Amino acid sequence: MSVRRLSPNQPDSFAFSAETLEKAKWWISKYPPGRQQSAVIPILWLVQKQEGWVSEPALRAVAELLGMPVIRVFEVATFYTMFMLEPVGTHALVQVCGTTPCALRGANELMAHCKKRIGPKDHVSADGKFYWQEVECLGACSNAPMAAINDYYYEDLTVESFDKLLDEFAAGRTPPPGSAIGRQGSAPEGGPLTLQDPKLYDGSAAKPIKNIPNAEPKAKAKKEPAA
Ligand code: FES
Repeated sequence: MSVRRLSPNQPDSFAFSAETLEKAKWWISKYPPGRQQSAVIPILWLVQKQEGWVSEPALRAVAELLGMPVIRVFEVATFYTMFMLEPVGTHALVQVCGTTPCALRGANELMAHCKKRIGPKDHVSADGKFYWQEVECLGACSNAPMAAINDYYYEDLTVESFDKLLDEFAAGRTPPPGSAIGRQGSAPEGGPLTLQDPKLYDGSAAKPIKNIPNAEPKAKAKKEPAA
């Protein structure tokens, strides 16, 4: 369990951008009158997309927009680890999975590389571009070890492939996400071993369904002969 507190370094104010506000209003409109608080998570996410993190003035602004107590917004933001409570790097937020399957496949080496290249975890790098942290399982264990960088998953990493990814982000580019070894989804290395028949996917292997009432197309009713 991590201790999640608001950063001691807070900006003086926060303002929704026109785009964020428009999207926030769209989210609010999805809920019935009086239930606008239900939009708190997507709106906090929009704020994070705008600023890179959620500051205390931003939390207060969200509470005001949704007409809910500030403490309730604080509770949500401090509970969900997807919300960053302090400023992050300008180019990449690197979240390395450190849970057992990833640890067994090299996550510790990836984190050691982060320390060497970016600096201590949970801090912005000296050049301001990166911020890295260790996170719990991100649900891509079959492609371990992996890291989420900004909005995408990067999988089957080695220190070398990971370092190249960081070069790309440092240059302001977003490299293609997915497996670093070209694996198809989570298929075995070298390609799929089962379910390879294309007929499985084009519908030609489907058998007619029997014994289900109304499953067969009805015969056209014959026209009554003219009297
Ligand atoms: Fe790393 Fe599940 S253990 S994604």
